[in-house]
Amino acid sequence: MSDVFEWPPVIPVVVIEDAAAAVELAHALMSGGILCAEITLRTPAGVASIAAIASTLGDVFMVGAGTVVHPGQLKEVAAAGARFAVSPGFDDELVERMQSSGLEPLPGTATATEVQRAMRAGIDAVKFFPADRLGGIETIRALSAPFLGMHFIPSGGVSPQNLAEYLRHPQVPAVCGSWMVPAELIRAGRFDTIAQRAREATELAAT
Ligand code: 3PG
Repeated sequence: MSDVFEWPPVIPVVVIEDAAAAVELAHALMSGGILCAEITLRTPAGVASIAAIASTLGDVFMVGAGTVVHPGQLKEVAAAGARFAVSPGFDDELVERMQSSGLEPLPGTATATEVQRAMRAGIDAVKFFPADRLGGIETIRALSAPFLGMHFIPSGGVSPQNLAEYLRHPQVPAVCGSWMVPAELIRAGRFDTIAQRAREATELAAT
């Protein structure tokens, strides 16, 4: 699956409290040049938000599920129209079930051991989490040396200050982060600010 899957360079991590805001949020991201989002399952509105975006904008906007921690969550998110699934940590059974549910897996890894397990599962891109706490780009450089075929997608502490440096690494196809879409901006309906942050991220990713 990973052979053909292309991760967009900037993946917003969304914690959404009201599914009614989901489509407007996706439009704001699109107007800033970002055509994807990871909607976390940290709130009860997560699955309904995935469904709202997938059914309205599914042709142009790729939505995935984040903070997936249990295989039992996958059937629902796949049915809602998610294209990929992200977990904070590495869980072999969860990865297997992501794959068999037709979801592109993006499991979290923090160590070389977990990266090896991802390789054995046939995965060529992992989330590297929490990236800033684990040493950021320097640690990705170190891990990339033995794992030449692996791609690392940092999440945790990614910001406008460091995203371009991450993306310059040949084994970093994408970054994830919540800075563009904090819950308070969504709650306040500040979609103009979200669009502006998305645009800034798009520009930085192109540098
Ligand atoms: C994640 O789930 O990947 C993180 O919560 C995102 O981290 P950030 O909030 O520091 O961007």
